Amino acid sequence: MDALRAVPVDGAAAALDEFWSQEIVGEANGSLFKVAKGIGSTEWHAHDDQDEVFLVTHGTLVVGLRTGEVPVNAGELFVIPRGVEHRPRAEEETRFLIVGSTVTSSAAGGKPAWSYGGGGPLGAERGNR
Ligand code: NI
Repeated sequence: MDALRAVPVDGAAAALDEFWSQEIVGEANGSLFKVAKGIGSTEWHAHDDQDEVFLVTHGTLVVGLRTGEVPVNAGELFVIPRGVEHRPRAEEETRFLIVGSTVTSSAAGGKPAWSYGGGGPLGAERGNR
């Protein structure tokens, strides 16, 4: 890391081109701090190698778990333990910071096919929640 400066977390997430795509904004103690924004939902997935920490900065991220859904509001933190299946979704654009050991915005990490290239959720995707 070059200059020591403050990172506008919510602004960095808002500036992203793609939904459900992570950008690294900081690194400390072996963890990556990544911003992302979401709408619609990801696919069901789990991370066997790391816990996934969400800190929501705008909107509400509804984290689907096999045991039910957990709404995470702006200003709230939620930890998904490694190995636990999850499917985050958002009614409106929601922005958040994720802490983890690697970037997980890939097909294996649940990134939906429609989100590549800056597209929005398909009608079927939005109506299928
Ligand atoms: Ni995940």
